Amino acid sequence: MTALSVSTSSAASLRADALVVGVAKGPKGIALAPGAEAVNEAFEGKLTEVLNTLGATGAEGEAVKVPSPAGLKAAFVLAVGLGEAAEAGYQLEALRRAAGVAARTLAGAKKAALALPTESADEVEAVALGGLLGAYAFGTYKGDGNGKEPVGELVVLAPRKGSKDAKAAVERAAAIGEEMNRARDLVNTAPNDLNPKSFAAIAQAAGKEHGLKVEVLDEKALAKGGFGGLLGVGNGSANPPRLVKVAYTHPKAKATLAFVGKGITYDSGGISLKPAGHNETMKCDMAGAAAVFAAVVAAKRLGLAVNVTGWLALAENMPSGTATRPGDVLRMYGGKTVEVLNTDAEGRLVLADAIVRAGEENPDVIVDVATLTGAMVLALGNRTFGVMSNNDELRDTLHTVAGEVGEQSWPMPLPAELRKGMTESTIADLANMGERMGGGLVAGLFLKEFVAEGIDWAHLDIAGPAFHESAPFGYTPKGGTASAVRTLVRYAEQTAANGKA
Ligand code: BES
Ligand code: MN
Ligand code: ZN
Repeated sequence: MTALSVSTSSAASLRADALVVGVAKGPKGIALAPGAEAVNEAFEGKLTEVLNTLGATGAEGEAVKVPSPAGLKAAFVLAVGLGEAAEAGYQLEALRRAAGVAARTLAGAKKAALALPTESADEVEAVALGGLLGAYAFGTYKGDGNGKEPVGELVVLAPRKGSKDAKAAVERAAAIGEEMNRARDLVNTAPNDLNPKSFAAIAQAAGKEHGLKVEVLDEKALAKGGFGGLLGVGNGSANPPRLVKVAYTHPKAKATLAFVGKGITYDSGGISLKPAGHNETMKCDMAGAAAVFAAVVAAKRLGLAVNVTGWLALAENMPSGTATRPGDVLRMYGGKTVEVLNTDAEGRLVLADAIVRAGEENPDVIVDVATLTGAMVLALGNRTFGVMSNNDELRDTLHTVAGEVGEQSWPMPLPAELRKGMTESTIADLANMGERMGGGLVAGLFLKEFVAEGIDWAHLDIAGPAFHESAPFGYTPKGGTASAVRTLVRYAEQTAANGKA
């Protein structure tokens, strides 16, 4: 794991492999970003000229290496693009991405110093978090020499003034970034290694490490409790389902949040089997549960004055002689019956059980996170998650909060007329499928049926951004992204600050 620290030393005197500076597109050619002053001095004020000669444009994603002149202790300078120059200060997301590009480019190096804009604590946090996330690599299955090690150490350079705040900002970034990287590891782990039981065991071990209460319901306890959704989805698999509860409480908390995560460790579609081409990445179908777990641990590490309970609905969706059939009726936790018309619409079944169970504890708000529908990917693309809610204000809050932390989201409606198709099961209370059009919203409406009267609830459909398949960009690697973790953490933080949900 990449070590993260903060230093107030001058960029010139810091011993490192690389010194990272920011370069932007100015009105008159490229411009150096704040933080690069001492480095520019070592180049006798000619760093922009040198970068120009090397073809630097300041575009986002760009990384240009320059050998160090005498006067710098680092071996080379790496200039990363920040996009358009910003007089009034760079967007935090531009800083996160630039730091991420730097960290990714520097894989294989031992130590790098980041001389990027860090005048405010928010900027320090952005640089540190972008660096830590960009340094991420999943090496579990790669042999030695088969890919570079992530950069060993990242030092964020910050001004002496406000250095105490800078230190706290780097610690915050470490808490959030390390938990996000844990969520990415969970998503990237092959589904023959990560199943409901092993996921629950990891949650128990990590929970213990951080002093969190973790309770696991195994298949016997689920049967005793009447969790028909989890059992029905898990029936076809040799790996039985689990419901994991992770609780973080704070003595001064004035509100309680429940986060519920879809944790399908592999989604083959079940008897309604997915065709080839649609199941190769379906190990990512537990990304919601991974995000929820990461957010609860991060809330604990940050010591937020709010109670947060995470519910991980874990099952493997497989076809077999014991699998649920299209046509079966499940009795969900709480008593509602559901006719399963398509076993590939399994996420809503495990979530329904978990949402009812979460509601029993009377939280102020329930937020579920799920790679729920392909329809949401068609609607919003690969980088944006949909936000639905039974409360417009909560929906807008989550959308706003996501934007603040650099996550792309969009508010989506839950149109009442789409509910009808789902309630037309001739033999059960509900069917797990409704109209095809607006499939992401139909799924949201299904979940809404299981939210207890009087509880505010929101649903984040992260099917698009949870798993990144094209080339890495900014601090986003290929594979698991930890989508929604920062949104959940910031929402918990805001709830703590407001003293109410
Ligand atoms: N896990 C999938 C949704 C998904 C699709 C996640 C693409 C990530 C990327 C979900 O369980 C599913 O199969 N949904 C079906 C629902 C349909 C059968 C009503 C879908 O979206 O096709
Ligand atoms: Mn499915
Ligand atoms: Zn699924």
